[in-house]
Amino acid sequence: MTPDGNATNTLPLVVSTPAELRTITARLLRAAPYAEVTVPPSLGLVPTMGGLHEGHAELVRTARDANSVVVVSIFVNPLQFGDPADLRRYPRTLDADLRLLAGCGVDVVLVPSVETMYPGGEPQVRVSAGRMGEVFEGASRPGHFDGMLTVVSKLLNLGLPAADAAYRAYFGEKDAQQLALVRRMVLDLNLPVDIRGVPIVRDADGLALSSRNRFLEPAERRAALVLSRVLAGLRERAAQGEPLDLASARAEVAAEEHVELDYLEVVDPASFMPLPGTGDAGHSAAEGDGGGRALAVVAARVGAVRLIDNTVLHRPDGGAAGTADD
Ligand code: PAF
Repeated sequence: MTPDGNATNTLPLVVSTPAELRTITARLLRAAPYAEVTVPPSLGLVPTMGGLHEGHAELVRTARDANSVVVVSIFVNPLQFGDPADLRRYPRTLDADLRLLAGCGVDVVLVPSVETMYPGGEPQVRVSAGRMGEVFEGASRPGHFDGMLTVVSKLLNLGLPAADAAYRAYFGEKDAQQLALVRRMVLDLNLPVDIRGVPIVRDADGLALSSRNRFLEPAERRAALVLSRVLAGLRERAAQGEPLDLASARAEVAAEEHVELDYLEVVDPASFMPLPGTGDAGHSAAEGDGGGRALAVVAARVGAVRLIDNTVLHRPDGGAAGTADD
């Protein structure tokens, strides 16, 4: 950053060990100007696995706007990949990632090795995502969420600033189940960090940005648009107060060439429990996340690529939407 707070195009500082990270962030936080005596300096952490795109840039810009020091971690976490081929295929694009980060005003990038993150080898003690980690994404990727929470808890520990600094960590809302589980872990384990969700970034045609989109053939990419299209249809029906008719929405996805639907469901965004129809006796949709919100979530295989997407549904009366078919 320049002294007037503008991002520069100089490559950010890259460190590879927890000790280096601690030293440099402590120094940067000590040097951070206090806007007012009552506003402590703060550190914003953006955990990533690299393969960065505009969606990640948005996470970083959001962190930049709210914090004195911004740290991005880039670590392809073997623990959250069930399929070794998937782990091998994951894009590793460090030079391009650092160039993208340079334009977003990142202070430090942590790029640890597998040995640094797991010094004892395969970890014996892990975070369990519980039942919430076994549904939806967890059902098709057993162990994924345990591995994800384990590394996120470690990264949150590594980024933890001195006691007088505020601490925030930023996650994309596209991975809604991941975000819900991270929030739940922070609640259940009393981790001293404020978790912030950042809205999905889409291409102009509606496709949610993902590191995996680069693997789509042109015809598959066109076919993938059915996901954002059905979500937009559900959002519209909810806003009009109409029944959602998930069966028709599922049929529309299933009819698309190259697309194999895994699930399309309406859930409570905090618990990922499916929300029953508002017509069901005794079920107010506001039982969802307590804030009356409902989330439509979809996952499908498009060619060889698994894609997910979601949207919040709002009823015209401000309540959450119910489904017509459950
Ligand atoms: O969303 C991701 O990129 C990863 O799951 C995360 C949160 C960086 C943990 O490896």
